[in-house]
Amino acid sequence: MNVCIVGTGYVGLVSAACFAEMGNNVVCVDVNPAVVKTLREGHVHIYEPGLEEMVRRNSQEGRLTFTTSLEDGLKDALTVFITVGTPCREDGSCDLQYVHAVAREVGQKMTSRKIVVDKSTVPVGTADQVRAIVAAELEARGEDIPFDVVSNPEFLKEGDAVNDFMKPDRVILGTDNPETAEAMRSLYAPFARSREKLITMGIRSAEMTKYAANCLLATKISFINEVANICEKVGADVRDVRLGIGSDHRIGYHFIYPGVGYGGSCFPKDVKALITTALENGHTPSLLQAVDSVNDAQKLSIARKVEEYFANQGGVEGKTIALWGLAFKANTDDIREAPALVMIRRLTEQGMRVRAFDPVAADNTRKALEGNDLVEIVSEQYEALDGADALAVVTEWNQFRKPDFALVKEKLSAPILFDGRNLYSPSEMAQNGFAYFSIGRPN
Ligand code: NAD
Ligand code: UGA
Repeated sequence: MNVCIVGTGYVGLVSAACFAEMGNNVVCVDVNPAVVKTLREGHVHIYEPGLEEMVRRNSQEGRLTFTTSLEDGLKDALTVFITVGTPCREDGSCDLQYVHAVAREVGQKMTSRKIVVDKSTVPVGTADQVRAIVAAELEARGEDIPFDVVSNPEFLKEGDAVNDFMKPDRVILGTDNPETAEAMRSLYAPFARSREKLITMGIRSAEMTKYAANCLLATKISFINEVANICEKVGADVRDVRLGIGSDHRIGYHFIYPGVGYGGSCFPKDVKALITTALENGHTPSLLQAVDSVNDAQKLSIARKVEEYFANQGGVEGKTIALWGLAFKANTDDIREAPALVMIRRLTEQGMRVRAFDPVAADNTRKALEGNDLVEIVSEQYEALDGADALAVVTEWNQFRKPDFALVKEKLSAPILFDGRNLYSPSEMAQNGFAYFSIGRPN
């Protein structure tokens, strides 16, 4: 099958590489010439384990190409995927300008029948807008070329994206048209171990399914963070509580790890967007509003502990904190909505210095924090500790799990460790002679 993918970011590039891997011919279109140049040279502009090798191999075998020209992308393709960003506006609503721009361009440039696939995460009703935009452009050209619009939200997670795409829990196909549904099922059949994984439903239900999934996952995280905060007040240990509740198979152990709050380009904006949709439609989504505000507070949980610790030493001004981890979670270079950034802004506003290390997110963070002279990003884990008054671990990279505590102690001016991911055991830390503060556990 000939496929066109418009928007070559985390979702677009992974989808493209995986479709090509199954033997399809895939043309990727991106407006950013630098991205296209990098990809044409066989490199990948984002960090995603396993992706570069897959992109390179499929490019070399001729099934995967990159261009800035949508016209070229559309030429032979039946299916055209929209995988551009849908960021959050100031008011929390979803900014659809990039999706609309692609729809307009498709309408202006298509010359044969197309199935336009909304893969970006978009509010209910967007597929109808895309349909109307394409139709209006065709009408303006005086053309009557058949096309259909499908909602096919994506559920991959960064850091494990290739695996998620190759072996999806389900593929959601939002369409009422049996012919379109069959074309989409045929494209996805190689990825689904059973046909039940290909779930066809109405377009609006498909659009809503994406938000419901992300909001439920975000709810689990805010729930366990709330429990963790209560644990701290009452002397309980959230690690034991998680095991205790997770053993009930209706609850399960997965995705209820407390921490520094959820970040990334998806949960924060998608929770806010569903809140906006609900309010616009006359429903007050109290639960989602609480999920959002619990998360905002949780992103500051470690900063607050740092402030409390230094309160009786004249505050954090003039002190230095070493930070391990900047990405919003491990195995990605993505720092969008990263808790580390929120924490850095809060502490540097009070005059604290930050020496930070992250295995892959350093460059992105340097750009994001340009001009903040109190922040230094170093290229080695232990170098971050030089001259620091305490260490805070914010991202759960594997290389932070078993550090050389003797070296950490030697380098810090005092052995103080704040652990935003509960990577270490309080008793082990006490044995190592550290003042240790984690999430939802007795100190
Ligand atoms: P991204 O920001 O990584 O990539 C978007 C790409 O689209 C960029 O390279 C940009 O240059 C390009 N682009 C913008 N306008 C364009 C246009 N008119 N024509 C061609 N290219 C254009 O975005 P992402 O993280 O891949 O997210 C894309 C969508 O997928 C969002 O709606 C997001 O919510 C959703 N999603 C993301 C993830 C994830 O893990 N990142 C997972 C599931 C769903
Ligand atoms: C998430 C979803 O997991 C994907 O299914 C979805 O497709 C994607 O959003 C999206 O729509 O873009 P992602 O944001 O890449 O994927 O990462 P997750 O692994 O879900 O983590 C999100 C945040 O929650 C991270 O900050 C992570 O540290 C935090 N988290 C996760 C916890 O604090 N505790 C947990 O138990 C799990």
